[in-house]
Amino acid sequence: MTAKYEVHGSVAVITLDNPPVNGLGHATRLGITDGLQKANADAAVKSIVLAGAGKAFSGGADIKEFGTPKALAEPNLLSVILAVENSSKPVVAAVHTVCMGGGLELALGCHYRIAAPGTNVALPEVKLGLIPGAGGTQRLPRALGVEPALNMIVSGEPVKSELLAQIPGQKLFDRMSASAESLAEEALAFAQAIADTRPLPLVRNLPCKHRNGDAYFQFARNMVKGMAKNFPAPLKCVDAVEAATKKRFDDGMLYERENFINLMWTPESRALRHIFAAERAASKIPDVPEDTVKREIKSVAVIGAGTMGGGIAMNFLNAGIPVKMLEMKQEALDKGIATIRKNYESQVKRGKLKQDKYEQRMGLLSTTLSYDDLKDADLVIEAVFEEMGVKEKVFKELDRVMKPGAILASNTSTLDVNQIAAFTKRPQDVVGMHFFSPANVMKLLEVIRGEKTAKDVLATVMAVSKKIRKTAVVSGVCDGFIGNRMIEQYGRQGGFLLDEGCTPAQVDKAMEKFGMAMGPFRMGDLAGNDIGWAIRKRRYTEKPDMKYSKTADLLCEKGRFGQKTGAGWYDYVPGKRDAIPNAEVVKMIEDHRAAQGITPRKISDEEIVQRLVYALVNEAAHILEEGIASRASDIDMVYLMGYGFPIYRGGPMLYADQIGLFNVVQSMKRFAQNPLDDAKFWQPAPLLAKLAAEGKTFN
Ligand code: NAI
Repeated sequence: MTAKYEVHGSVAVITLDNPPVNGLGHATRLGITDGLQKANADAAVKSIVLAGAGKAFSGGADIKEFGTPKALAEPNLLSVILAVENSSKPVVAAVHTVCMGGGLELALGCHYRIAAPGTNVALPEVKLGLIPGAGGTQRLPRALGVEPALNMIVSGEPVKSELLAQIPGQKLFDRMSASAESLAEEALAFAQAIADTRPLPLVRNLPCKHRNGDAYFQFARNMVKGMAKNFPAPLKCVDAVEAATKKRFDDGMLYERENFINLMWTPESRALRHIFAAERAASKIPDVPEDTVKREIKSVAVIGAGTMGGGIAMNFLNAGIPVKMLEMKQEALDKGIATIRKNYESQVKRGKLKQDKYEQRMGLLSTTLSYDDLKDADLVIEAVFEEMGVKEKVFKELDRVMKPGAILASNTSTLDVNQIAAFTKRPQDVVGMHFFSPANVMKLLEVIRGEKTAKDVLATVMAVSKKIRKTAVVSGVCDGFIGNRMIEQYGRQGGFLLDEGCTPAQVDKAMEKFGMAMGPFRMGDLAGNDIGWAIRKRRYTEKPDMKYSKTADLLCEKGRFGQKTGAGWYDYVPGKRDAIPNAEVVKMIEDHRAAQGITPRKISDEEIVQRLVYALVNEAAHILEEGIASRASDIDMVYLMGYGFPIYRGGPMLYADQIGLFNVVQSMKRFAQNPLDDAKFWQPAPLLAKLAAEGKTFN
């Protein structure tokens, strides 16, 4: 049973009991309506308490039922709330810890509400591209007042119950309990006290007005428009709350419902719901059971205090985990520590970090020049130069000193993790932790699973990544792992487009209009064009038949490595990140084009977007087929969290699904006809061809 029914004297208590957050799944909804019937039929019962067991009152819809018929099966949430309102005996919601989404809507349907302090109260539907769909937009403004309700609905952010209880005139909470512990008892006493009060108060009957309605909603729309960017839901939240002030309650409910259903079908909401599910899926590894016993990570060592080492260390310091950094020379350590300090100090200056927190974090950081000082660390992450010889030295040392059971991780972005593991006598303890730059900012962490990596090591690293607030995605071992292997194909298409007639700015603009945080050439300038150059030089010998545009090499030969040299595809002014087009670079591209005898053609934004994005998709299909990624949604997470793919499109795989894989394959066949492109690459990956032929999708 996911809802319990008990009678205490004259009070019936219906307790939602569907861990972890008492999601309002079908069985729970039935439990509530059954309980109401029983209580109303029992002459000994005078009033009813609706409570939540465990760690929540209710977190809202049951995500396990998302997209299944059960989510809508009767009694649906609207019917349950009606049943509560229609109860002839008063119903008191006793809310604690979490009262969100449908959980709050249910509480708003009750005749009375008592809250424990510290309860997180929210209507987070907007975060899934929706508006609340069970009366939230109509009842919350009536209970709380128009402005605070609108703020909560548009932002989706939780607010503590004690703050809400202080809002003048609010009718959301009739009473606050002294503590979470005393809530149950106080709710019983309150239910007894109001047992005979009639008529029963209903939120739907409360007035809902704003003194300066029209001006206020106009102002709200202007504010929201700026923030909502490509998402339709936030403005719909404003519309729905305005409807609450202007329409009769039942008409407002219909208006809410209609908008809720329309939003369900928008690509933006599909993308957000996809990401919500993808984030949860990514933390699960198909062959690693969820109850795998994890190793304890109480202290961390970082080898190398350079760009990545410093950022990696900060993640752990921020999470309160002590870090010891090792370098070969004291100067390198000093430089690394100074950079971390500077980083934190700028956060303090901008008011993002309190001084005492900053000192606390720095207090967790220590340094050493000797491997023997690291031996007690539970996890060590190597971030030294990207050379196999250097990695070999480091891992042999680590193997020598680290205590048994310590996890040995490498932040390598291109080297073979299996080979690195083989430098030790404990390859089962070796794993890749591929952070992205800047490592203290970027959300993505690719966890590289070596052939011999133990399951509990993977489970531990996934758990640790949550602690340091990263979105971790598991990748098998291959050149470039998931993200960089795909980006190479994307970059290659960018090069061909220059050869065929585009300027870097044209390509970047088209991709930025599509929604990418940055086009490929600005991204190259940020990451450093020399990195791609080094990879291509390797490719020219490893894969001599792979086709590349030569423009990027010509650029690097001029020393234009990007922002770090003040010049790349664009020019940069010191201290600024604005990309200023450079006529010489454009001329270099034109000259190169002419030298090859190519007549430039006008290329549409549509073609630019398709070639770049479908290049990602085709390579991703190979990656899926080879088992490097375990699911398409993992690949979407990599691109959303690590490469600035537009959130509202849900990642390259969901985007391809929405276009239709058949259409994607047709376009690829067209690109293969272009003599200046790479016909071999545009052969659809077998998995993609198969799904397209069967009319299926990746996700
Ligand atoms: P970096 O050059 O900024 O830092 C490397 C540091 O390691 C230097 O401070 C150096 O003194 C130290 N070091 C070198 N050999 C050492 C040894 N034997 N023992 C102790 N310390 C040693 O390099 P960066 O950019 O931080 O890269 C480090 C690793 O992270 C590389 O494997 C790189 O591929 C990887 N990576 C880099 C990314 C980036 O965007 N920079 C992104 C993801 C991974």
